[in-house]
Amino acid sequence: MSEQLIIFDTTLRDGEQSPGAAMTKDEKIRIARQLERLGVDVIEAGFAAASPGDAEAIRSVAGIIKNSTVCSLARANERDVRAAGEAIKPAAAGRIHTFIATSPIHMEKKLRMQPDQVVEAAVKAVQLALEYTDDVEFSAEDAVRSEMDFLCRVFEAVIKAGARTLNVPDTVGYSIPALWGERMRQLIERVPNADQVIWSTHCHNDLGMAVANSLAAVMNGARQVECTINGLGERAGNAALEEVVMAVKTRRDVFNCDSRIDTTQIVPSSRLVSQITGYPIQPNKAIVGANAFSHESGIHQDGVLKHRETYEIMRAEDVGWSHNKLTLGKLSGRNAFRTRLHELGIIMESEEALNQTFARFKDLADKKREIFDEDLHALVAVEGHLDTCDRFKLISLKVCSETGETPYARIVLSDGGNELSADEIGGGPVDATFRAIEKIVESGSTLLLYSVNNITTGTDAQGEVTVRLSRNGRIVNGQGADTDIVIASAKAYLNALNKLFGAEERAHPQV
Ligand code: KIV
Ligand code: ZN
Repeated sequence: MSEQLIIFDTTLRDGEQSPGAAMTKDEKIRIARQLERLGVDVIEAGFAAASPGDAEAIRSVAGIIKNSTVCSLARANERDVRAAGEAIKPAAAGRIHTFIATSPIHMEKKLRMQPDQVVEAAVKAVQLALEYTDDVEFSAEDAVRSEMDFLCRVFEAVIKAGARTLNVPDTVGYSIPALWGERMRQLIERVPNADQVIWSTHCHNDLGMAVANSLAAVMNGARQVECTINGLGERAGNAALEEVVMAVKTRRDVFNCDSRIDTTQIVPSSRLVSQITGYPIQPNKAIVGANAFSHESGIHQDGVLKHRETYEIMRAEDVGWSHNKLTLGKLSGRNAFRTRLHELGIIMESEEALNQTFARFKDLADKKREIFDEDLHALVAVEGHLDTCDRFKLISLKVCSETGETPYARIVLSDGGNELSADEIGGGPVDATFRAIEKIVESGSTLLLYSVNNITTGTDAQGEVTVRLSRNGRIVNGQGADTDIVIASAKAYLNALNKLFGAEERAHPQV
């Protein structure tokens, strides 16, 4: 019989540490609901001590989620552990994940602590966490560069103190699969009472090996993998949940373990996280990239037509690609709209918010015959930011783009209720539009990223634009969606400006 592989999702914590990916409480709740639907075992909802907004978001997620354990991260000190303990109180099942660095470089240069002090802090943190929940996880940060003997000593001590899950992180993405697997094997062999706990792996992707390293750990006894949707996370990201899950499922012959994940929810989860964070999915990304199941070469197409398994090791519908289904149209009423949003886990805060979104849906349905689930997600995730508190709102945009002529844009926007307009020329219609906005707003921000993705297929599909702006060291992502990509671009730029200037608090402020 195969063993269970626990899927610990940290999109809302490590994933949120990606530049510009900070989320609001409502966004975190929407992702948490989708993660629950996906069937993840543990949702790391944030880092309670990081900010009051983070603590509040964890508390809200904990109060809503019923079928996944809700977890908060905490450094190994009293303040953090108590903050985490308070935040997970409403959870049906709550976990505290406490950590301290164990590598010589981190202990000496960052913590300025002696190894004995580190062991003591780890044990105390675990003991304190047990006052709040019996589900306590301990991580030895930078385990990859920690000395084996010391790592064994710390892990032995925290098992005695009552930790249930021991996490071994490759914090800096330094390992390679053979070594990471061997490290896990040795730990399980050497640490007394290793069989009383679940061993976990948490890998970063700095050398592009986060998934491979995680799988090597699983082959050597790890039964929890910490990962994120789309591989989001600090720097180059974490192990991608969808890749880990599908590798284990597709190669059951090798891994001999199974996860509880409903794989048909993978693509919807990936899209939702991408839309909310503004991190686009590269087309050739495994499992969730637009090209992941498309065959370009004639030989491959011929093979697939004759017998699908000639070139396909997984079925697109098994990871949720078939979810790209028609849901609503121009004639759909408000109730059908509300019901479908509900089915997608999108709960509008008020009747007024529902009415506004419904009005935008009708506008969209006028331009686009078929409305898919992905369009609805975009409508709420992208347009949902455009609430009444937003300072900048797009009123109208006119662009002229003609062969041999300099592109020109005229924009009218509202700045806190005042209608302002500007004209500008630029290298292209989008450049002219951004320049016109800047002429009015004078934000002085730097454009770090501009990307366009189509939400569904077809030339009438909505274009989803992400704009990343930086100003005074602060980085934000803005999103906009429209069937006209220049309008989507203007919306995305204004959305980013609203985040830079706005009052809406990110749960985890990034500076
Ligand atoms: O990368 C890391 O070491 C972490 C720990 C807090 C688990 O994110
Ligand atoms: Zn990490």
